[in-house]
Amino acid sequence: MDFTHYIRDIEDFPTPGVVFKDITPLLKDPSAFQKAADALLALVGNTKIDKVIGVDSRGFIFAPMLAEKLGAGFVTVRKSGKLPYKTISQSYDLEYGTGTLEIHSDAIEKGERVLVHDDVLATGGTAQAVCKLVEKLGGEVVQCNFLIELTFLNGAEKVKGYQKEVLLQF
Ligand code: PRP
Ligand code: MG
Repeated sequence: MDFTHYIRDIEDFPTPGVVFKDITPLLKDPSAFQKAADALLALVGNTKIDKVIGVDSRGFIFAPMLAEKLGAGFVTVRKSGKLPYKTISQSYDLEYGTGTLEIHSDAIEKGERVLVHDDVLATGGTAQAVCKLVEKLGGEVVQCNFLIELTFLNGAEKVKGYQKEVLLQF
């Protein structure tokens, strides 16, 4: 299924000159939503996954469903100050701004196989930071998967050491 027409372009959001890819038309359509979840799951194949990471905040939409279907645990990587327990952190550059991502220090065991999921791969700064957090805890990033890749921002370069899978490229 081609999900392209469920993605809406919003010009000058959140800042002038940026064209934001709005996924809410896809999410609100019951059939497209279900099919997108199934398609993301299919990208993973039969490989064993111990933990699925959802990236704060739009990664939280599909990652729990993937975890449930894969029989894996769900782990959140969050923006700084949101996680209550001991954390490790990684700073990163965004398409618009900079930030810090955190993960609980006990979220991943050494040697665990991890699927990283987020809605969009743009510059790749976010995904790269998440992969670094996984590796700091001794996990193995088996795949990074995304609903959308904005290819003109070259995010693939930042995650080139990992298997990258996407449903839609713009
Ligand atoms: C957006 C998007 C990805 C990230 C991609 O998140 O959801 O997580 O940017 O950008 P990058 O590849 O250039 O790093 P954002 O930080 O805007 O926040 P949100 O998910 O909370 O809306
Ligand atoms: Mg995000």
